[in-house]
Amino acid sequence: DKVTISVIKADVGGLCGHSLAPDELLEACEAVLEEAVDEIILDYYVTRCGDDIDLIMSHKLGCDNEKVHKLAWDAFEEATKVAKELKLYGAGQDLLSDSFSGNVRGMGPGCAEMEFVERKSEPIVVFCCDKTDPTAFNYPLYKMFADPFNTAGLVFDPSMISGFKFEVHDIVGHKKVFLDTPEEMYMLLALIGDYEKYAIKRVYRRRDNEIAAVVSTEKLNYIAGEYVGKDDPVAIVRAQSGFPAVGEVLEPFANPHFVPGWMRGSHWGPLMPVGEEDATPTRFDGPARIIALGFQVCDGMLIGPNDLFADKGFDKAREKALEMADIIRRMGPFQPHRLPATMMEYTTVPKVLKALEDRFIPLEGLELVEEGGITRKDRGEVE
Ligand code: 13P
Ligand code: 13P
Ligand code: MG
Ligand code: MG
Ligand code: MG
Repeated sequence: DKVTISVIKADVGGLCGHSLAPDELLEACEAVLEEAVDEIILDYYVTRCGDDIDLIMSHKLGCDNEKVHKLAWDAFEEATKVAKELKLYGAGQDLLSDSFSGNVRGMGPGCAEMEFVERKSEPIVVFCCDKTDPTAFNYPLYKMFADPFNTAGLVFDPSMISGFKFEVHDIVGHKKVFLDTPEEMYMLLALIGDYEKYAIKRVYRRRDNEIAAVVSTEKLNYIAGEYVGKDDPVAIVRAQSGFPAVGEVLEPFANPHFVPGWMRGSHWGPLMPVGEEDATPTRFDGPARIIALGFQVCDGMLIGPNDLFADKGFDKAREKALEMADIIRRMGPFQPHRLPATMMEYTTVPKVLKALEDRFIPLEGLELVEEGGITRKDRGEVE
C-alpha cells in the first residue's frame, strides 16, 4: 500500500517586494487544502520560505495526479486573489496560465513528488528554498548520497554500501542520464559541478531502486511556451534505515556553499540554513535561504514538522554564511558576484547593452580572424 508525498510551491506575491508571503496567503491556501482532506489528500502542512508558498501534502493517488495538482493550483489561485486585493508585489507571479490543464508542470508552480511503500518508520525531510534555483541541490545531494566524509552510513550500513543512482538532467539539451556512485562519482561531478547545464532531479538506492530524493526542476526548462527562468526549489529526502540518517541529510548545510540567485536572481551568494521563523530574506533580497522540515509519515499522515535548521547546531553555519555574504557583496556588479549572462534569471542586461551597439568601433591595427579564417586585413578593412 503506497503513499505519495507531493510538495508543490509557487510565489504568488510578496510583502514587501520579494521578501515574504504573508500569513493571509498561507491561510487562503490552508482553507482550500482543509476542504480536500479525506476527499483528495490525507494530510497537509502549509509553510513559506521568503515569498514562496510550499504546500506539503500526503495522499494515495500517486505522482502527477490531476486531482492533487488541481488542488494545489486552486489553493494558489485563492492566494492570488488575496494577493491582488492587497496589491502585493508580483501578485500571481508564478501562475503563468489563466486556467488549469491537467498538471502544474509547465504552468509555473514547482513540484517534487515521490511515491513509496511506508516503512516501519518513515522519516522524511522536506527542504524549501528562496532566492536560489534547483541547482542549489547539486552539491548537498552529492554530499548526502556519495560522500563518506559527510555520510558515515555509506561506510557503516550494509544496505547503503552498494551506493546510490543519480538522475541528472541536462537543462540545455533537454535529456537525462543515470550515474551510479561510487563507481561513476568522478563523471557525476564532471556534470553536476556545472550549474549552467546540469541539475540533479532524483536519487535512487541502487540495492533495490527505492526512491531516496527528488528535487523540483520545472522552471529550468522552457515552460508555457517561453523561457521563464529559474525557480526557488523544493526537495524531499527520505532518511534512516538504508538511507542517510537525518543528521547526515542535514550535514551538507553546516558548511554553506555558494548558489546562484539572490538579488534579481543574478548573483552568486551563500545558501543560509534557517528555521521557519527566519526564512525572511531581506539583505540585498537575501542571502538565499533554505528550511528543513522533518516529518514522520504514519499511515499516510504527516507527523510533525520538526523545524530542523532552527537548532543551535546551525548557528555557526549562519554566521559563516553571513561572512561569505559580506565578502562576495564587495564585488558589486563584478563577477564572480554577478552571474554569467547564461545564468541570470532576468534577461534585461542585453537591453541595457543594446544602447551601446552603434558606439563600438573596430580596434585599429589588429588582424581579427573571423569565421572561415578570413581576416579583416584580407578584406582590406584595416591596414
Ligand atoms: P540515539 O542513540 O540518540 O538513538 O541515536 C542513534 C543514532 O544513530 C544517531 O545518528
Ligand atoms: P523571487 O524569485 O523570490 O521572486 O525573487 C526575485 C528577485 O528579483 C529577488 O531580488
Ligand atoms: Mg517573488
Ligand atoms: Mg521566491
Ligand atoms: Mg527566485
